[in-house]
Amino acid sequence: MKILVATEKPFAKDAIKGMKGIIENNEHEMVLLEKYSNKKELLGAAKSANAIIIRSDIVDKEVLDAAKELKIVVRAGAGYDNVDLDTATAKGVVVMNTPGQNSNAVAELVFGFLLHLTRNGFDGTSGTELKGKKLGLHAFGHIGKIVAHIAQGFGMEVYAYSPSLSRNPERGKEHGVIAVKNPEELYDKSEIVSLHMPAIDATKQSINYELMSRLPENGIVINTARKEVVNEADMVRIMNERPKFKYATDIKPGNHDEMTDKFGKRYFASAKKCGAQTAEANMNAGLAAAQQIIDYFENGNEEFRVNK
Ligand code: 3PG
Repeated sequence: MKILVATEKPFAKDAIKGMKGIIENNEHEMVLLEKYSNKKELLGAAKSANAIIIRSDIVDKEVLDAAKELKIVVRAGAGYDNVDLDTATAKGVVVMNTPGQNSNAVAELVFGFLLHLTRNGFDGTSGTELKGKKLGLHAFGHIGKIVAHIAQGFGMEVYAYSPSLSRNPERGKEHGVIAVKNPEELYDKSEIVSLHMPAIDATKQSINYELMSRLPENGIVINTARKEVVNEADMVRIMNERPKFKYATDIKPGNHDEMTDKFGKRYFASAKKCGAQTAEANMNAGLAAAQQIIDYFENGNEEFRVNK
């Protein structure tokens, strides 16, 4: 089988080596398409692929139509909002993700962002500490749980909201967090909120003025989730109204230039989405993706299928 690894943002070299090893040891062929600059390259490479491994790369109807031999797409990572699941399902293409494999990298970045904001971009002026601060985790999956544990090391008080946690708040205790009933309560109780939800209809634009205004005057929002979950106009509004409010994100918003001009050091966005961009996360997610494809081809294993 031909397994295409199509990543606009490449994996670390060792991860590629490991993936190639798994694929070739199982007598399949790996084709590598990295740093492609236009969709045509992806469409061309997808034509003869039986499997595709991607990251945030867009696999829409056009790609699925072009990939006539395709049986499976594995998103090496957590969020699969970049794949057209309905079209894949209609074409009988299996879609999987690799949950948890890059979570630690994203969780660590949250604290990089937090320290950057609370220490004023490391400019030598007097900042604030994380110890004793109230951190709210908006969603509590693989990443949220690791963020909770790191936050406890900083001496933070951790609150968490997710639909499933609100149904079973006792689960919060296992992770040393206080489960709250709804997002409103989370923002009422927190000084800092870190976002960890997927981009789905229910979450898109959900981080709005009403919610953020529940945070204190010097509230902080950290977004390593997806750009679509934050209402960008509302973010501008609250940061305009509150001169101490801060925002850092791993995914440049549509109004990045406006945010930079207006808010200086109170706003930070990484040049490229980099939460999962570590040697370890690349290795974990890349090898898992390759292995899942082999398990699917050899044993029909669909454990991580997301379009059932
Ligand atoms: C994910 O959903 O796994 C993360 O957002 C990482 O995305 P990336 O693989 O494009 O870095």
